[in-house]
Amino acid sequence: MSGKYVTETIGTDAHEITRAAQILRDGGLVAVPTETVYGLAARADNDEAVSRIYGAKGRPDFNPLIVHVASLELARKLADFSDVAEKLAAEHWPGPLTLVLPRRRDAGLAEAVTAGLETVAIRMPSHAVMRALLENSGLPIAAPSANRSGFISPTSTAHVLASLDGRIDAVIDGGVCEQGLESTIAAVRADGYVVVLRPGPILLAASAADGKNIEAPGQLASHYAPGKPVRLMASEVAPDEFLIGFGDLAGDCSLSDNGDLTEAASRLYACLHEGALSAKPRIAVAAIPEVGVGIAINDRLRRAATPPD
Ligand code: TXA
Ligand code: MG
Repeated sequence: MSGKYVTETIGTDAHEITRAAQILRDGGLVAVPTETVYGLAARADNDEAVSRIYGAKGRPDFNPLIVHVASLELARKLADFSDVAEKLAAEHWPGPLTLVLPRRRDAGLAEAVTAGLETVAIRMPSHAVMRALLENSGLPIAAPSANRSGFISPTSTAHVLASLDGRIDAVIDGGVCEQGLESTIAAVRADGYVVVLRPGPILLAASAADGKNIEAPGQLASHYAPGKPVRLMASEVAPDEFLIGFGDLAGDCSLSDNGDLTEAASRLYACLHEGALSAKPRIAVAAIPEVGVGIAINDRLRRAATPPD
């Protein structure tokens, strides 16, 4: 895809991270590996930089972004941390948990980051490259998944470039993402009540948001779309279907031969990308148990199987 940028691939040496941090300070866009998926990073305190994220992704402006931080100290400047929020952060940060908290007005975040909401989504990632970038830049960094809006999330630089080549300044090649699914998003209410807005790698004892009351504006019914029909809970495959297998049901791409859900999560988007590129016009997916991280896998698969409006 061509655009106004020449997208360069950057390595992970210290001097290369320093250069990537400079691109961010200058208001540019850099795709960065995290432990979940690749993120499309921009400085979160600058309106123009943040608006470039929306432009490159074709993201609707009502869909707010997650702000990534290097420290709890910075996080506390951006949002009000209740005791419950402090406890969740102490238990799970750095790691794949995003907390939705009351935003602090004096934080200096670009307005578009929160899309007009009174809350802000914050996460402290554990990936060494993302952490080095956060520390080196000294900035809060807004980063949605590094894909065109509505499409499959990226777990490799090849996925990023397939979607955003020519639309962003650079991608840092940190190999394949370990978890492979986006962070768990939990909203902490003023009364201490915790609601899971998006299931993910961190399993919380909290209530799940009911689909009728969509509180994460990005959690639309159709998402992660491979651009062709997706059939779920397949127990056999038709000749015109690309099969994504699991356990005993071996496919064209297998999520996990021995039925391991953690491995399946890490491979989900790679298999969906393969299915999207395959000559077969349809995708079928084996049944995934609705337990543990299987809940998050099935959440993504249901959205992948829902046709766009
Ligand atoms: O693992 C992840 O979370 C990755 C990596 C890059 O950190 N990021 C990610 O971002 O998945 P994105 O933009 O693809 O998904 C963020 C979700 C969206 O559904 C958005 O609507 C929701 O978070 N969100 C952001 N701010 C929110 C807020 N204040 N209240 C409720 N939902 C919010
Ligand atoms: Mg996304």
